[in-house]
Amino acid sequence: MDAMTMTRPAVLILLGPPGAGKGTQARMLEERFGLVQLSTGDMLRAAVAAGTEAGQQAKAVMEAGGLVSDEIVLAILADRLRQDDVKAGVILDGFPRTGAQAEALDRMLEATVQRVNAAVSLDVDDAAMVERISGRFTCKGCGEGYHDSFKAPAVAETCDKCGGTEMVRRADDRAETVGARLEAYHAQTAPLIDYYAGRGVLKRVDAMGAIGQVADDLNGIVAAATR
Ligand code: AP5
Repeated sequence: MDAMTMTRPAVLILLGPPGAGKGTQARMLEERFGLVQLSTGDMLRAAVAAGTEAGQQAKAVMEAGGLVSDEIVLAILADRLRQDDVKAGVILDGFPRTGAQAEALDRMLEATVQRVNAAVSLDVDDAAMVERISGRFTCKGCGEGYHDSFKAPAVAETCDKCGGTEMVRRADDRAETVGARLEAYHAQTAPLIDYYAGRGVLKRVDAMGAIGQVADDLNGIVAAATR
């Protein structure tokens, strides 16, 4: 299945702790299925960089590894969902992260006669997350994600995708912050696994495998869920 054969705008959710591979997989699904990746983390980092009021409020919370308030996140996401380019369908990467966000999403979708096609939990061991996160870097030019060991660019410090040579590492990817982020995940986000199981749309993927293996599993799920 590809974008041409999809019959209605799909809404896919990627759930998983920091470093599970949500961003990596969302970007691959975006290319394969013609969907738009919506990462609330990326939106918040953009707001911080732009120095907006929301960004100023979010900055310290993000640097400490906590969750930004539902009010700020929902306002940013609702704005983004009003833009034309998301009409083909979206992959929500890092949203929802609380029960209140999940319920707000249901209400937003009801208003547009849409529904969540699938919420996929990327299941990983906490121990592996620190290694994944501490080795992560991103091309400043196009946002392509890399890893020192697991996904190094073909030419060192040069983006495979756009040829850019400026690579950046995130401010919250420090070992002490990763612990707080994992704690926030288990306390506030993991309960959403049951929330979506109760709605009959939960899928689970073993995300401890190689990036390509996880992608294969996800492709099958997304193809079936958007049929
Ligand atoms: P966000 O940006 O969403 O970060 P996160 O959830 O902590 O997730 P990450 O981006 O760290 O990991 P990922 O799962 O995308 O993994 P990736 O693909 O990069 O949020 C940041 C902050 O913003 C939050 O802490 C919070 O403060 C705030 N925020 C965001 N959304 C919010 C919301 N809805 N509500 C409230 N606050 C919110 O992969 C990691 C690395 O591993 C990469 O280097 C990759 O190459 C590598 N890798 C990926 N898959 C594999 C694999 N299978 N094997 C080996 N390596 C792999």
